[in-house]
Amino acid sequence: MGHRLFVSSYRAGPRGHPVRERQAHADSPKTIAGPAVRLVVNRLVEYSKGVERSMSALLAIDVSPRLENSVSRKLTAKFIEHWQSAHPGGKIVRRDLMKTRLPFIDLSWLGGAFMPAEQQSPEMKEAIRASDELTAELMAADHIVIGTPMFNFSIPAVLKAYIDQIVRVGVTVTTQYEGRLRGKKATVILASGSAYTSGAKLEQCNSASTYLKLILGFLGITDVAVVLAGKTLDIDAGQTTFADFAAQLEEQLADAAKV
Ligand SMILES: Cc1cc2nc3c(=O)[nH]c(=O)nc-3n(C[C@H](O)[C@H](O)[C@H](O)COP(=O)(O)O)c2cc1C
Repeated sequence: MGHRLFVSSYRAGPRGHPVRERQAHADSPKTIAGPAVRLVVNRLVEYSKGVERSMSALLAIDVSPRLENSVSRKLTAKFIEHWQSAHPGGKIVRRDLMKTRLPFIDLSWLGGAFMPAEQQSPEMKEAIRASDELTAELMAADHIVIGTPMFNFSIPAVLKAYIDQIVRVGVTVTTQYEGRLRGKKATVILASGSAYTSGAKLEQCNSASTYLKLILGFLGITDVAVVLAGKTLDIDAGQTTFADFAAQLEEQLADAAKV
């Protein structure tokens, strides 16, 4: 009988917000404070939903082994500054692949990734521990920025090792091979010695951002901005400063960080 004490209904409140109110059943207790309390609670719930929507989380992935001399790391730091301005109070998680244990896929890993938990050996569970952590971190983010060098026209092996950990059937991809990360955004900042922008002689040789867009799309992330930071050798050769180099990319970084 308890569940039949109240009947739910909706009406438009001030400013058109739906206000849920419960009509007292004939034999339920009536209090004067009840409707007012419910109104306040409803307002708080609506407010908290709004706060939740405006809060955002950024996962920033750094790849370069050149650490403080790395152009992609410095540009990623600039992107983070722009993102912080656009998302005050947003959460930022840093993931440095130079400091992350990234095992290659082996037989134990395959067992851990494709066998039901109750059939996995302790070795299999251990083999996918890094993958479990990295996929959880990725799925908690709304926006993922990857700052990476181009190595040999492609991505560094360490970034490929990371990707092999985060593409997980049943976790980030369904068993029907549909990406589960829909609705998220990504920005790829690609530092390279030569230029690969539209019309450049080597444009077609850029397998790095082409592949990153492909794999992000496979995970369900189709809203991907690519910032091509080419000709970094000019900085290393002293022909330009990082400040002047970065100034040309500032607008692209700011635009990508806004979403
Ligand atoms: C092992 C290695 C391979 C590289 N391969 C390429 C390449 O294929 N194309 C290119 O334009 N630059 C290449 N470069 C240059 C780097 O992409 C460039 O120095 C970039 O700025 C590195 O990123 P970082 O400054 O964030 O470390 C290579 C550099 C290294 C060390």
